[in-house]
Amino acid sequence: MKGTLVYKILKDHLIEGDLEIGKEIAIKLNQTLTQDSTGTMVYLQLEAMGIDKIKTDLSVAYIDHNTIQAGFENADDHEFIRTAARKYGLVYSKPGGGICHQVQLERFAKPGITLIGSDSHTPTAGGLGALAIGAGGLDVAVGMANGYYYITVPKVYNVKLTGKLSDKCNGKDVILTVLQKLSVKGGVGYIMEYTGPGVKSLSVTDRATICNMGAELGATTSIFPSDENTLDFLTKQNRPEDYIELSPDEEAEYENTLEINLDDIVPMAAKPHSPDNVIKVDDEKIKVDQVAIGSCTNSSYADMMKVAKILDGNKVDPSVSLVIAPGSSNILRLLSENGALKIFIEAGARILESACGPCIGMGQAPKSKGVSLRTFNRNFKGRSGTMDAEVYLVSPETAAASAITGYLTNPNTLDLDLTIEEPGNYGKSDNYFIFPNEEDLGKDVVMGPNIKPFPKAVPLSDTINKKVILKTGDNITTDDICPSNAKLLPFRSNIPYLSQFSFKTIVDDFYDRAVNNDGGIIVGGDNYGQGSSREHAALVPLFLGVKAVIAKSFARIHRSNLINSGILPLVFVNKDDYEKIDEYDELELNNTIEAVTNGKVINLINKTKNIEIPVIFEGSPREIEVVLNGGFLNYAKNNKLEV
Ligand code: F3S
Repeated sequence: MKGTLVYKILKDHLIEGDLEIGKEIAIKLNQTLTQDSTGTMVYLQLEAMGIDKIKTDLSVAYIDHNTIQAGFENADDHEFIRTAARKYGLVYSKPGGGICHQVQLERFAKPGITLIGSDSHTPTAGGLGALAIGAGGLDVAVGMANGYYYITVPKVYNVKLTGKLSDKCNGKDVILTVLQKLSVKGGVGYIMEYTGPGVKSLSVTDRATICNMGAELGATTSIFPSDENTLDFLTKQNRPEDYIELSPDEEAEYENTLEINLDDIVPMAAKPHSPDNVIKVDDEKIKVDQVAIGSCTNSSYADMMKVAKILDGNKVDPSVSLVIAPGSSNILRLLSENGALKIFIEAGARILESACGPCIGMGQAPKSKGVSLRTFNRNFKGRSGTMDAEVYLVSPETAAASAITGYLTNPNTLDLDLTIEEPGNYGKSDNYFIFPNEEDLGKDVVMGPNIKPFPKAVPLSDTINKKVILKTGDNITTDDICPSNAKLLPFRSNIPYLSQFSFKTIVDDFYDRAVNNDGGIIVGGDNYGQGSSREHAALVPLFLGVKAVIAKSFARIHRSNLINSGILPLVFVNKDDYEKIDEYDELELNNTIEAVTNGKVINLINKTKNIEIPVIFEGSPREIEVVLNGGFLNYAKNNKLEV
């Protein structure tokens, strides 16, 4: 990785550790972002840390996910986040201001900075040369409180671009091509670094689209060098002073390389139900029922204007529902000034607010068995809100052309010039921001009835005496532990409420078992905690008093979340011993502190069956410290690095 752009930025921000692949390092953090769906938990965690003011250069709290206020819950969350931003000195971006990643790109991200966000598409800002990483909520809270972030140094994957992208193609077609070649697992363990002469034919927003969907490759993040296109973008956003030129060394060392000739890129589509199930648009003629244009992937000014060029003078096919959500209030304002909005309306499109909307299933679910073309980044089954819908991921150009014809359509067939003349200056729309103010620092946060305090963990006890309140089979998902459905989404800041639904897919009375036994221990099979990364699946058991989970094996992220939350994840030394424990058995763990500290086996006593069973916690030196301290919040409070 020596000489790469990634290496240079990491080196520039290194606080602790050796910059070697696979090693954990601490880096200085310049910026953070949160969105409301994960943000409430982040600010509850920040509250629990008891700090006066954030330590990053800039942190932004966006409201873009749960913007629909069908009851008081989302509105309570918005007010809580607004007042938390006021208390700790963050920028607050109101609902309607835009989608976090698009707004961060337009207004705040800079080449060469480090940024973490509690959203997996935070890498979007890599389009202008920022090292931008999606992280867990706790990491973001600790990042704001202390100004640094721990990361395991990844490998660097060079995507070398040659040729020139056609005006009928989009960054989306490039990243869909990369996904076709590498699959949704191809980027795991890597940062994707784009280089080569083809880079200069890509605008910053095309680059941002490519970095956005690097998340679908499984990559830690993606990044482009900064050049005259970056300067041009920043100048149009009234902030040329944020520009610095950044490029890798000629002799940079990459761990892997992929070459893409942009001359060969044609309109592509990801078929249901995976972003790497990619075909050429020309290869399938399918009837379309719905077209949705927007999301953090494809909602830039240029994307919207290409759509306007295609729709101009045309009508949306009678059998198609077309919805358009511009990515930011500033883009929406520009479209209202230059007549593009009028074109959308005259074509028969429906205009949505600048927010995530249908991407997260917030409205505009397709009809049953409907075919929906979306310019978004994910097409997993059911994500649209309709379980049997067929969702295709495409570029805005393909989406708009298809909305007119009613069929999946290659925009090249329309014979239009899609070159966009961008305004010399995008202007600024600050109306949706509330900037921090010294006088407001420390003012109380407002916690409406939907906001409940964050459950706190205590340092590891040397002796744990608890009953087994649940024994599960293999492959328990985070959805089993803490369901996430449209009805429960508004309660993401209410762990006590969510806890009533814990493990409902397995047993009806898990909540009662936990309450009646003053917490307990869970015994799991293989791959315990697979699925999403959300922390709620660890915080709910923590709230219910679960002290330890003993499993045959854990899913990686959930294991980290248990450690970070202050629950001890133990594995059986002999997997067969799983059979020697039953529900409601009384277990005793002794000398846990010494055993965890030294990576030693603990002889668990099954008091009900009068037998001993060896179990163990194996972790990195920092994970051991986190477990001993009783979770990451306590650890971070007790172990501050000098920034
Ligand atoms: Fe929002 Fe969808 Fe992006 S939920 S942040 S538009 S992936």
